Amino acid sequence: MIRDYAETPVDPAVVDLALENATHAPSAGFSQGWGFLVLDRPEDVRRFWEAGADDTGPPDRWLAGMMRAPVVILPCSSKAAYLDRYAEPDKGHPDRDESWWPMPFWHLDAAMAALLILQTATDAGLGACFFGVSREPEVRREFGIPERYDPVGVITLGHRAVSTGPAGSPSRRRRTPWTEVVHRGQWGHTASPSA
Ligand SMILES: Cc1cc2nc3c(=O)[nH]c(=O)nc-3n(C[C@H](O)[C@H](O)[C@H](O)COP(=O)(O)O)c2cc1C
Repeated sequence: MIRDYAETPVDPAVVDLALENATHAPSAGFSQGWGFLVLDRPEDVRRFWEAGADDTGPPDRWLAGMMRAPVVILPCSSKAAYLDRYAEPDKGHPDRDESWWPMPFWHLDAAMAALLILQTATDAGLGACFFGVSREPEVRREFGIPERYDPVGVITLGHRAVSTGPAGSPSRRRRTPWTEVVHRGQWGHTASPSA
């Protein structure tokens, strides 16, 4: 995650590729119940921060670095699209009952699409950061996001600034080794590398 950007514009082809890749994320029942609000014009990016920044005072280091990102993308999920899809005959839930869903697949799928955007940015040598939406009602109103869609988060995307910028939580917490979170064969059995 990069939280400090140069003002250099981003090649629009990379943004398009990231969005195309996003639509190749897996989705339950191939519902594809996502939508992406893309802000890649300076005036639109400015409108986003005016509507969505928590503070009204001068931006702190985090916000100042993030506000320089030339592209902001809001991946959105649509629960209604999943309920519609699973009401179709091959899925067999015409009552649109929500109780059987093992988890909110609509958010899960949009999050997987978001990860593909992040990975495309990284592959292109760019930086990106995913973070939660603040002031969601204001953002929704400003950009006309319909009720049927919920932003699952925000992605900033751009060239990294020369400085490393705010390091974020990884500077305060260690990355948990995979062997501590993998339970091989039985939950509670510690894992060791297989090779
Ligand atoms: C749901 C979610 C919310 C996040 N919110 C923030 C945030 O508000 N501010 C921020 O700087 N980073 C945010 N992040 C980024 C995480 O801090 C970051 O992914 C984590 O520290 C690991 O860093 P890395 O992705 O660079 O390895 C968020 C990530 C996720 C998945």
